Amino acid sequence: MPELTSEPAAALVGETGVPGDKSISHRALILGALSVGESRIEGLLEGADVLSTAAALAAFGARIERGEDAIWRVQGVGVGGLAEPDDVLDLGNSGTGVRLLIGLAAAAPFTTFFTGDASLRGRPMARVTTPLAEMGARFRARQGGRLPLAVIGAEPVRPISYRLPVASAQVKSAILLAGLGAAGETAVIEPAPSRDHTEHLLRHLGAEVAVEPAERGGRRITLQGQPELSASEVVVPADISSAAFPMVAALIVEGSRLRLPGVGLNPLRAGLVETLIEMGAEIEIRNRRLVQNEPVADLLVEASRLRGVTVPAERVPSMIDEYPILAVAAAFARGRTTMRGAAELRVKESDRIAATAQGLASLGVGVEELEDGLVIEGADGPPPSDNGRVVVETFHDHRIAMAFLVYAMGARGPVTIDDGAMIATSFPGFVASMNDLGARVSEPTT
Ligand code: S3P
Repeated sequence: MPELTSEPAAALVGETGVPGDKSISHRALILGALSVGESRIEGLLEGADVLSTAAALAAFGARIERGEDAIWRVQGVGVGGLAEPDDVLDLGNSGTGVRLLIGLAAAAPFTTFFTGDASLRGRPMARVTTPLAEMGARFRARQGGRLPLAVIGAEPVRPISYRLPVASAQVKSAILLAGLGAAGETAVIEPAPSRDHTEHLLRHLGAEVAVEPAERGGRRITLQGQPELSASEVVVPADISSAAFPMVAALIVEGSRLRLPGVGLNPLRAGLVETLIEMGAEIEIRNRRLVQNEPVADLLVEASRLRGVTVPAERVPSMIDEYPILAVAAAFARGRTTMRGAAELRVKESDRIAATAQGLASLGVGVEELEDGLVIEGADGPPPSDNGRVVVETFHDHRIAMAFLVYAMGARGPVTIDDGAMIATSFPGFVASMNDLGARVSEPTT
């Protein structure tokens, strides 16, 4: 998909289904592949990132099929049962896919080769290879620990106790996945709680996982190695990180009222909802329920007059992927919004601090770029844009692309993004769903 133009929208009204949670989808497939028997996954995100993980797991010997009923069935090989892939595994744009699978490969008795697209080949992998080397795996990577990378699996893999330098669910999960193959107890100490879908799913499949507070405010996750995971049914909730886009669109487009059913509201993921409510957003959370230990609810969102806030740095891990779209909400809010402590944004699919600041500045929004965040001067409504043909650079980042398409829905004039192709990594059908609700996103005719 080339350029996309989004024009100011009339009220967004109705109900829209949001695709399955990306983090949980990767984990459901990976743990399904390590289980004994057939797992059935309902609501799997069928986005490019997750499909890359599925293809990689098939190369490791798992049988993965999508039924006509949209249920995905995974015939697992059991912990320790992976086969050597006969080619390089290409994880495309997926940081989660590659980092989790590097953990898996670290405990397998053969060598696995990984690569990815230009964005993924630029992202740091040392954060996973450092602890996995302590577990006995060896690595050959390009300079700076970048992909392509070869993982020479540990024989045998050793359990470790590892303190994460930054809260990262990907690194935690990579260590736990390698720890599945180790005899004894693998422990990860995180400085602040990060998303715990791996822990929930591991328990759901029968592994023993303990979580307890650690000194200095963090927590310690302990896994008993070499469990037998029994295949099970997994229902994937709608992704809060994708729901964030229609949610903010409804807040900034006058007269909007949207219902988003079945959205995952794991407290370690729900920082955006908390922040938007502090900003004055009318978000009603209805029908709270638990689906396999994961909190889920229906969200009702109405157009709201927002005010700027200071986002506490402690909230960063629970909304790390939501800063670009929060920045859009902040541009429409009354007063200043300050976001700090989010330096990790610089090593996501793009440098999201720079990409967000550049895009907003090109649209005339008052924005200051900080090393670890952003300060945005809200316009109390649509920022006074110049109505010229602004083309926002997305740096091949799905969340930057969606954030600026949403911006235009509430703005005074259209916005064009340079490339909408990456949206398919996490939210296939985004454009069609938004247009069904009243948005006007299309490929430019000139
Ligand atoms: C993810 C963890 C986060 C997040 C990413 C998905 C996961 O990354 O940004 O989109 O599924 O574990 P970090 O672990 O680098 O914080």
